[in-house]
Amino acid sequence: MMAATNSEATVVQAEGSQDSVKSQAQLAQNEELLHACAVGDLDDIGQLIKAGAESFYQRDSDGKSCLMAAAENGHLDAVQLLLQEGAPWNAVDRSARCAGEYAVSEGYQDIVDALVDAGVRAELLFYRMHVNSPPPAPKYLNKPVRYQGDDLLDEEDRGVMMLWEKPLMDVHAQLMCQTHGDVLNVGFGLGLIDTAIQSHLPRTHTIIEAHPGVLAKMRKDGWMDKPNVRVVEGRWQDVLEQLGTFDAIFFDTFDDVLYMQEFHQVLPRLLRPDGLYSFFNGICTENVFFQGVACQVVKLQLEELGFDTEFHTIEVDSGDDATWKDVAFRYFSGSAYYLPMITWHQDTAADQPTASAERQ
Ligand SMILES: C[S@@+](CC[C@H](N)C(=O)[O-])C[C@H]1O[C@@H](n2cnc3c(N)ncnc32)[C@H](O)[C@@H]1O
Repeated sequence: MMAATNSEATVVQAEGSQDSVKSQAQLAQNEELLHACAVGDLDDIGQLIKAGAESFYQRDSDGKSCLMAAAENGHLDAVQLLLQEGAPWNAVDRSARCAGEYAVSEGYQDIVDALVDAGVRAELLFYRMHVNSPPPAPKYLNKPVRYQGDDLLDEEDRGVMMLWEKPLMDVHAQLMCQTHGDVLNVGFGLGLIDTAIQSHLPRTHTIIEAHPGVLAKMRKDGWMDKPNVRVVEGRWQDVLEQLGTFDAIFFDTFDDVLYMQEFHQVLPRLLRPDGLYSFFNGICTENVFFQGVACQVVKLQLEELGFDTEFHTIEVDSGDDATWKDVAFRYFSGSAYYLPMITWHQDTAADQPTASAERQ
C-alpha cells in the first residue's frame, strides 16, 4: 500500500515535472510571441503560432496581451493576424485596459477601427447564436425596492435609478416631446423623465411599469389620476401588443438590458413614420472602447430593422464618491453620455402604419 502510494506519487511527480518543463517551454515561446508582436515581425508571429505559441497569451505580471503589444506599437498587420488566429479583442490587462485603448492612447486610428470591427463582428455573432435562447428572467421584479434619499435602490443596494441622471432625462424628454404627440416611456423609476415629459404637454403620455413597489409609489404620488397619463401595469414584454403606436418612445428598464434587443424587434410595430425612439445608454460606460463597440452593435441591429441611429455626445456629471456611497456598484462612469436618437430610415418609413390609420 505504502509502496503503491509512493510509486504513484513518483509518477505524478514525474508527470508534474514534465508539465512544468512543458509549461516553461510554452512560456518562453509565448514571451517570444509577445516580443514579436511588439516589434511587428509578421514572419516570427506566424511561425511561433504554428509552433504552438498562444495568440491569446497575456503576461502574468501586468496582463499585457500579444494583441495589446501589437496595438500599442502601431502594427496593424500583426493585429489583423492575431485576430485571425483567435486572439480575443476584449481581453483586459491588470489595469482593465483592452487592446483598443492601447491603440487609442497611441493615436493608431487604423488599429482602433480594426479592433472595433472585430468586436462588432464577434458581438453580432454572439447575438445571432443566442437569438433563440433568451437570457434568464431577471429576478429584480420579484424583490423589494426602496426609495432612499434621492435614489431608488433594490434589495442588493444596486442603483435602479439615481437623481444624478436628471439632466439626461430632461434632454431625453425634451427631444421626445418636440412634436407634442403621443409618447411612451418604458420604466418609471424615479419618474424623472415622466415629470419632464409632463412639463412639455404631450398629447398623450403612456407609462409602462412592472414593479409593485414602484407602482405603489406612482399611485401614492397621483400618477394614476393625471388626465393625459395612461399607466400600464406589467412587464413591457406582456403588455406592448395592446398599446397602439407612438410618436416618441423611451426605453429605460432595469436588470433587463439583455432584453433590449428583444424590445427592438417590436419597435417597428410601435413607432410611427416620423417617430423618435431612444433609450438610456448606460452600456459599458466603464470602458470607452467597449462602449464604442456596444453602440456600433446596437446601431447595426437597428439598421437591420430599418432604423437610423445617431449618437449625440452630452457632458454629464455622474457624481462623486458621496453620490454613490450607498450603492453597491457604480453603473456609470466617465463624463460623456452618448444619447441615441433613432428614427426610421427614409426608405422604410413610408411602409409604416400611420397615426391616423391607427386611430380609425
Ligand atoms: C432605471 S428605472 C427608470 C428610470 C426613469 N427613466 C426615470 O426617469 O426615473 C427602470 C424602471 O424600469 C422598471 N422595469 C424593470 N423591468 C421592467 C419590465 N420588464 N417592464 C416594465 N418595467 C420594468 C423598474 O421597475 C424601474 O422602475
